[in-house]
Amino acid sequence: MALISGKQILEEAKKKGYGVGAYNVNNMEQIQAIMAAAKETQSPVIIQASRGALKYSNFTYLGYLMKAAVIENSDIPVAMHLDHGNSLESAIKAIDLGFSSVMIDGSLLEDGKTASTYDYNVKVTCSVVEYAHARGVSVEAEIGTLGGIEDGVGSGKIHLTNPKEAEKFVNETDVDSLAIAIGTSHGAYKFKGAANLAFDVLKEIRALIDIPIVLHGASSVPKELTDEVNKYGGKMPGATGVPMSSLQEAIKLGVSKINVDTDGRLAITAAIRKVFTESPEKFDPRDYLGSGRTALTNLIITKMKDFGTAGHAKDYAPKSLEDIKKLYALK
Ligand code: G3H
Ligand code: 13P
Ligand code: ZN
Repeated sequence: MALISGKQILEEAKKKGYGVGAYNVNNMEQIQAIMAAAKETQSPVIIQASRGALKYSNFTYLGYLMKAAVIENSDIPVAMHLDHGNSLESAIKAIDLGFSSVMIDGSLLEDGKTASTYDYNVKVTCSVVEYAHARGVSVEAEIGTLGGIEDGVGSGKIHLTNPKEAEKFVNETDVDSLAIAIGTSHGAYKFKGAANLAFDVLKEIRALIDIPIVLHGASSVPKELTDEVNKYGGKMPGATGVPMSSLQEAIKLGVSKINVDTDGRLAITAAIRKVFTESPEKFDPRDYLGSGRTALTNLIITKMKDFGTAGHAKDYAPKSLEDIKKLYALK
């Protein structure tokens, strides 16, 4: 089994200067598609479930499907990650399900919408770090807020990360990785005008902190995909994302984890819409879900190559969570 902690997968990426995609999953087809891409490109991979995804699947179903990904791909380092945990309780639930990595998003209050205070963020993050590290599970935190509201994730306003505050936060919480805000947003409508990211802020943060940096809201919303969705009856006018060249620049400047959900949704939706339009006689879910799965695999293969993850699956021996637990105990 190559279930790996978020700490190891990201520290290895940081050392070699490549990005690891963290892909959101809700069901079997998404998990299989991402794992097929990881196998094809020999990439380490993070599969992540949001609170919404876990609730949708009644926790156990998705937890076991993610475990199946690990069992079926013993030669690929896989981290099972909780995306946007909102409380110690949500982190405990994920760790009990077998996750090797959790995010506590204390930049927002427990409602997942209201921007919190720095002190609240430190307090809730420390409580998760204490619980997780005692079990060898790594912790991602967030400072600054993204734009965009998606099913209760996001304040709707962008507050770029303050680099000095990020440095203080890392020292006070002992987190393993830090999500920062440099102008990205969740969802398919990220920019009104030019897709500018605050690379100067990223550079400053990189100079002040030494742990892996995470970029949320990193879907590129490729025009080919929204065109395809629209062609087959969808309605996504003016959708925009982060260009791949900007993500590659961000990786060069020190981002190690790149969160992608929206692009996967688009690939599956476009493929399913195509089947429904071109083959209206079909009614077996395997026909359209299978097409969605294939489309997602192809999308993720391209991302793994573009992020530089491809070819790194066998670079290092995965450490068990027991080993990681011992490392934390030495601190
Ligand atoms: O960060 C947000 C992710 O895209 C998860 O979205 O809460 O709708 O599953 P979700
Ligand atoms: P996108 O909406 O850009 O895919 O971002 C996903 C994300 O940040 C999940 O945490
Ligand atoms: Zn996110």
